Amino acid sequence: NEDQFKKVISHAKEYGYVFQSSEIYDGLSAVYDYAQNGAELKKNIRDYWWKAMVQMNDNIVGIDAAIFMHPTTWKASGHVDAFNDPLIDNKDSKKRYRADVLVEDYCAKIENKIEKEVKKAEKRFGDAFNKDEFISTNGRVLGYQEKIDSILKRLGQSLEKEDLADVKALIEELEIADPMTGSRNWTDVKQFNLMFGTKLGASAESAMDLYLRPETAQGIFVNFLNVQKTGRMKIPFGIAQTGKAFRNEIVARQFIFRMREFEQMEMQFFIKPGTQKEWFDHWKETRMKWHLSLGMGNDNYRFHDHEKLAHYADAATDIEFKFPFGFKELEGIHSRTDFDLKQHEEYSGKKLQYFDHEDNVSYTPYVLETSIGLDRMFLAVFSNALEDETLDDGSVRTVLKLPAVLAPTKAAVLPLVKKDGLPEIAKSIIEDLKWDFNVTYDEKDAVGRRYRRQDANGTPFCITVDHDTLEDNTVTIRHRDTMEQQRVNIADLRDIIKKEVDV
Ligand code: GAP
Repeated sequence: NEDQFKKVISHAKEYGYVFQSSEIYDGLSAVYDYAQNGAELKKNIRDYWWKAMVQMNDNIVGIDAAIFMHPTTWKASGHVDAFNDPLIDNKDSKKRYRADVLVEDYCAKIENKIEKEVKKAEKRFGDAFNKDEFISTNGRVLGYQEKIDSILKRLGQSLEKEDLADVKALIEELEIADPMTGSRNWTDVKQFNLMFGTKLGASAESAMDLYLRPETAQGIFVNFLNVQKTGRMKIPFGIAQTGKAFRNEIVARQFIFRMREFEQMEMQFFIKPGTQKEWFDHWKETRMKWHLSLGMGNDNYRFHDHEKLAHYADAATDIEFKFPFGFKELEGIHSRTDFDLKQHEEYSGKKLQYFDHEDNVSYTPYVLETSIGLDRMFLAVFSNALEDETLDDGSVRTVLKLPAVLAPTKAAVLPLVKKDGLPEIAKSIIEDLKWDFNVTYDEKDAVGRRYRRQDANGTPFCITVDHDTLEDNTVTIRHRDTMEQQRVNIADLRDIIKKEVDV
């Protein structure tokens, strides 16, 4: 729900996970920075994916292609032509695109208007003014009808008459949605044609128009033969990659769910034509298992099979996750046939074929793709972990129950008091553990408060050094989720932590 989502966003900021980009300049829309803890969590998710996909599979290798690619790439892939959206047919795409642009425009205006009203009200009512309440009661009424009418009027001018009813229905759909969160039930509309342009070259005349890649996949397709040959890869084999992608998303306002600069983790699996059905099922199952292995609740996932397929695909499904704003796409699994390699063959004039020694034939491989947004996975993990837990004594503790393998800091080492040699012992434990884990030291405030701080930060273990430690080299280790405490030997700490955080 919306309250939970707000909590997620403010917790992410307060605990150093995610900041708005260029915040001191009032931020940049749909662009975010990962802070000290966020960068660690993101890295751990990336590593967890890489280990499962590359390290654990003999027949999958990883690459790191450049963000800049030859501009013809995007002609071949179908991204360049306006409205040539590979995922939905043209007519539909055009219509939706137009409606989308107008709606965005409309939302921006409404937001402007609300902002002005908010400023006025703040001046008038001072501290008594409740901004959230004001927005929720007034957001919908400010100039709504007037704007809808004008959208319809403009659409009427550019669309065929018979399209108008459809567009009206679209706008109505949108009317139900919330202008403040941007949720509009348009989840299956992909805007592939919204690439960021830039220039390569020193002088204006010789500069070449380039795009920032809108997906990492094409870096794999164009390298297919290089990797196959130099790695002596035999089909079936996969190429994996993680990296930034950029889309000038029109509807981009759900925190890190839909960003303009984001990171993808993709794997293209090259197979023999005719075997795509079995590999599609294989990767559906394998990817779902990966998600479930994090223990974030089996009921929070579901498949959403695409009924309407892109012209190049012969099967596609999404793994959806239950975000605070409902079930939404987290990962896509697509059976892309030989579309991409064939397109690149045509545009580059180079053969991208595989010679099958066993069957003594050459063919253009088919491709099975798994594609997940790293930022979106971050949001899934983070929002699922955040809990306000009511304890037996009635008090509430905020705890971030991150899977231990992903937590930014694995353990905090706390001297009970700042004297009697306890800080020195705590620091020596840190010196020893930091070779294997991210660990942190904290001596400020009462130990109970320090525990709560680490709970909210998502640290799975707190290790407390007290006066008994001086006698027998034992410490207390406290488990974040159960709050249970054990007395253990300092020498055993590494193994205890390793057992929980290693996969
Ligand atoms: N190569 C296929 C491809 O890019 P996609 O469904 O457009 O397919 C794959 O994107 C995944 O990338 C999505 O499931 C989502 O997790 C993530 N993603 C796409 N657009 C995004 C955006 N604007 N912000 C954050 N993540 C995004």
